[in-house]
Amino acid sequence: MKKIYELIVCVIIIPFFLTPVLAIDLENGKTLHDENCLRCHDESKYIRKDRMIKNFQQLHERIKQCELMAELTWFDEEIDDVTAYLNNQFYHFDTEK
Ligand code: HEC
Repeated sequence: MKKIYELIVCVIIIPFFLTPVLAIDLENGKTLHDENCLRCHDESKYIRKDRMIKNFQQLHERIKQCELMAELTWFDEEIDDVTAYLNNQFYHFDTEK
């Protein structure tokens, strides 16, 4: 009986918890970014010495603002993907903060 219970936990419940993590798509983030975000500034903005962004929260906020300015009407998931991509590629912030 215990085995069956463990099996249920593995097969049904664990993937359910993993889904939000797997939903972040760095490739999608890169594509969205490269197609829409290089109009006003290029990637050197993200790696300059005096960049304004100091943590993951600010990065997310900034991308939301830039996305609004660019009139892209992205879904939250798309903003999350681009945030994850920029963080992974350039900023390297701790995502917990
Ligand atoms: C309408 C013009 C415009 C577009 C399009 C735009 N941005 Fe920006 N972005 C700005 C401006 C202006 C700043 C502030 C630059 C400064 O202060 O030097 C900025 C700054 C940033 C920063 C902060 C850089 C730093 O100092 O660390 C990030 C990150 C960023 N943009 C991401 C994006 C992303 C992602 C997109 C695509 C959704 C995007 N931007 C599209 C105008 C734009």
